[in-house]
Order: sequence, then structure tokens, then C-alpha cells
Amino acid sequence: MSGNATSMTVLGLGAMGSALAGALLEAGRPVTVWNRSADKTKPLVERGAVAAGSAAEAVAASELVIVCLLDDASVREVLKTASLAGRTVVNLTNGTPRQARELAEWVEEQGGAFLDGGIMAVPPMIGRPGAFVFYSGPQDVFDTHRAAFDAFGGSNYVGEDPGLAALHDLALLSGMYGQFTGVLQAYALIRSEGLSAVEFAPLLSGWLAAMGSFVQHAAVEVDSGDYTQNVVSNLGMQAAAFENLPIAAADQGVSSELLAPLHQLLLRRAADGHGAENLTSVIELLKK
Ligand SMILES: NC(=O)c1ccc[n+]([C@@H]2O[C@H](COP(=O)([O-])OP(=O)(O)OC[C@H]3O[C@@H](n4cnc5c(N)ncnc54)[C@H](OP(=O)(O)O)[C@@H]3O)[C@@H](O)[C@H]2O)c1
Repeated sequence: MSGNATSMTVLGLGAMGSALAGALLEAGRPVTVWNRSADKTKPLVERGAVAAGSAAEAVAASELVIVCLLDDASVREVLKTASLAGRTVVNLTNGTPRQARELAEWVEEQGGAFLDGGIMAVPPMIGRPGAFVFYSGPQDVFDTHRAAFDAFGGSNYVGEDPGLAALHDLALLSGMYGQFTGVLQAYALIRSEGLSAVEFAPLLSGWLAAMGSFVQHAAVEVDSGDYTQNVVSNLGMQAAAFENLPIAAADQGVSSELLAPLHQLLLRRAADGHGAENLTSVIELLKK
């Protein structure tokens, strides 16, 4: 990066904000940082960042302002102390599509430009292979700053609607938590007999990888709304087999509360006459 690279401001130096600021420094960008608790600026100042005395000062220092705070309320609280006219605010704080749309409107009313983002990485991954960030908002604003964003990892622009980055982020997190749910239940069952989770882990990893093709198959069915093609494990059969999961859990002294929601949906869908379809058809019960 050349000596006249665009300067950037980072508001929020928690685990993630510090990693983002660090990646910008590593990429050779001049960085101004601010954090509510000023002590967190020290390690970054030692690496070349400038610490601002207030959020307003930090925002005044750069046209491009990266925000990574706890939640939407803290973002609002901090941004309202600064003058946003002529600034580009890039909010990488986790939030909902509605929060992103409302914040975009508010920032634009203040005379600033706005992009929302969703970080798909944990702090040590930032700037390393595998990390990527969703962005949404005006395409020209994204294009202007893309080179700077690439310091964080892959930059994945998902559309003009500022809510789309959060939508993509939360959809991936939904998939992740669904997987975590299954892993926790599997280990609880294994441990109920005093067996080793570590020894069982390769079986679980292999099984999840083998079942991973569900992601693609289900996507085709969800887009078409047709759950009746190539049915080899019909929903009615799965609803009946699923019954054994809570029964066995109870027998083993394990709670089945993580499994209960899917169990109820399977039973309802089968009772509604869709037992011959693929399990994907449960998605019809999720539409409100
Ligand atoms: N860590 C991850 O794995 C990860 C992954 C993806 C996305 N994210 C998202 O990144 C964001 C930051 O996460 P993090 O891991 O950095 O969290 P964190 O370590 O808990 O840091 C939270 C940050 O928010 C600040 N803050 C909280 N309330 C505030 C308020 N009312 N006014 C001003 N500042 C306030 C904290 O300031 P103080 O230092 O003064 O408390 C700190 O800078 C979150 O939205 C999180 O969901 C995190």
C-alpha cells in the first residue's frame, strides 16, 4: 500500500473492532481509532494507529468510518455524537435487516453514505483465508471502498438494499446454530453412557459431511416449491423415526428440548397429509 493510502476510522475496539483495525494497519492504511474504554486503543497505537479523544473526533478524521460495536443501540448512541455529513459509514456490527435499513435512512438524512455489513469470521480469522464480509447498500459506495474492505478478507457485495447483508449473515448463522444444535444433542447422548465425545467426533464429522448434500437438494426444492421428486426418505417415515430421539434421550437422562421444535413441525406436516413428500416441505410451516 502506498504512503498516500486513504485513511480510515474504526469505532469500537472490542475483539472484532481491534482485529479490523489491525488488518487495516497491516495493509498499510493510516487508521484512527476510538473506543469507549480508551485503554483498548493502546495496542493499536503501538502499531501505528492514531487514538482520537472522542467518537466525534474520530469520525472527523476520515471520510471512511468503520463501526463495530456491540449492537444497534450502541451504534446509534455513538454515531449521534458525531457529524456524519460527507462521511461513509460502514456498519459491521451484527444486527437485523430492519435495523440496517433504518440506520441507512438516518445516516443519509445526516448527509452521509451508508453500507451495512455482516462479518463471517471470528477475530483471529480477519485478514486471513476463509474470512469474508457481506456488504449491502449503494453499489458505487461499495466499489469506491472495496480495496480497503479486502484487507478484512473476501468482500461479498449482496445488493443495494442495505438490509441484505444482515439477511445473508443471519441466514448463515441460522444454518450454523442448527448444526451446533445437532452436535450438542449427539454429544449429550454419547456422554450419557460415559463414552468419549473425542472418539465419537470423527463419526459425527463424517456423517455431517455425508449429509451435507441436503443443502443443495433442499435449495432446488425450496425454489421450485415441489417436494415430491426423488423421494427416498419420506417425511412420514422420518416423523416416525424422529419419535425415537426424544424417547431415547429421556431414557438416557438427556433433555430433548433442542429437538422438540423440529419434531413438532414434522408431526404437523405429516398430519396435514404431506407424509409422502421430502422433509424439505417442512419449510411451508415456517412461512408466516
Ligand atoms: N467476536 C466475534 O466472533 C464476532 C464475529 C462476527 C461478528 N461479530 C460482531 O462484531 C461486533 C463486535 O463484537 P466483539 O466481539 O468485538 O464484541 P466485544 O469484544 O464485546 O466488544 C464490544 C464493543 O462494543 C463497545 N460498546 C458496547 N456498548 C457500548 C456503548 N453503549 N457505547 C459505546 N461502545 C459500546 C465496547 O466498548 P468497551 O470496550 O468500552 O466495552 C467494545 O468496543 C458485534 O456486533 C458482534 O456480533 C463478532
